[in-house]
Amino acid sequence: MLSEITALAEKLAPRLIEIRRHLHTHPELSGEEYQTAAYIAGVLSSTGIHVTESVGKTGVVGNLPGVTAQHNTLAIRVDMDALPIQECNDFEFASAKPGVMHACGHDVHTTVGLGTAMVLSQLPEAIAGNIRFLFQPAEEVALGAKWMVEAGALKNTDAILGLHVFPTIPAQSVGIRYGALTAAADDLEIFIYGESGHGARPHQAKDAIWIASQVITALQQSISRTQNPLRPIVLTIGQIQGGRAPNVIADQVQMTGTVRSLHPETHANLPEWIENIVASICNTYGAKYKVNYRRGVPSVQNDFHLTQILERASREALGNEHVQILPEPSLGAEDFSVYLENIPGTMFRLGVGHQNRLNYPLHHPLFDVDESAIRTGVITLAYTAYKYFQQSEANHEEI
Ligand code: NI
Repeated sequence: MLSEITALAEKLAPRLIEIRRHLHTHPELSGEEYQTAAYIAGVLSSTGIHVTESVGKTGVVGNLPGVTAQHNTLAIRVDMDALPIQECNDFEFASAKPGVMHACGHDVHTTVGLGTAMVLSQLPEAIAGNIRFLFQPAEEVALGAKWMVEAGALKNTDAILGLHVFPTIPAQSVGIRYGALTAAADDLEIFIYGESGHGARPHQAKDAIWIASQVITALQQSISRTQNPLRPIVLTIGQIQGGRAPNVIADQVQMTGTVRSLHPETHANLPEWIENIVASICNTYGAKYKVNYRRGVPSVQNDFHLTQILERASREALGNEHVQILPEPSLGAEDFSVYLENIPGTMFRLGVGHQNRLNYPLHHPLFDVDESAIRTGVITLAYTAYKYFQQSEANHEEI
């Protein structure tokens, strides 16, 4: 089956590069992927895949039924939104839309999803169960996965695969990670309410700026003294506002920040832990406070068993030298985790780095990919899907 998949991916490569360049020239922002969605629906329909549009706003779902009686459904998720960045690349297929750019490689993800659909629809014997392709909007604003799940996109699915391009991994290679791949990212807002007074008479006031500074210090030190160092937390206060004049003690301070964590237990306890620290300091100095903790996306926790299937399939398909087992997670965030709250899955990094050129990071106006990665992505996903169904059939027989 591997040679059939590889040969088809090879044959489709020029067409897939065309598709990727079309998407790259016509980027759309999160939640506004109307043309992109229509284009995807057109390509999927032409391969004979059953398409449902407007799933979770602009999402597209393609269903490829399996040929045997086996009922497992594997979801494959790719995202399709672009960023509000002015592209500085000067190649022919650079963004034609001022101020909007596929600087996070979601054009590549979409193309790999379409390529995998094309390959597997031509190899019905490769998939014993059903495949559901999810083309997700609005990943950059961490809303699209939620929209699609709420619209029922995961109904009757058993497992999910995802990918994200990575410029520091060379093209034709993939990066695989067991356990946490990305962090949970939450928003934090803290208000400190003191009492105003003359700058020369602090004893007659409650200095909200000084109390806020104690809060910040206590939060940072508490991470190092009260939290498990093997379960990292990054707490960044990115904004602070308070005070009216140099000689007037501030009565109010507002701080906002982001909180990143990897371990689900740590993540679960963060709001209470933060509030306790803020409360203890404010109580000590007689100030009032309010803490607004807003959950963002959870951490991507790759399923061990599915990651094992992915690793074996990748090693076989790409060769050991093209498979990196990633030693570290990232403290970035990815809303693939929203699917993983419902079903097990695994997400890998698709290398897109050029061999002999400077590789700009994701979200950079000069971000660019080695397009040979598209073929690698298609082979990896298609062969992992095949292996997944083989495995689940074997498990089925054991029962
Ligand atoms: Ni991205």
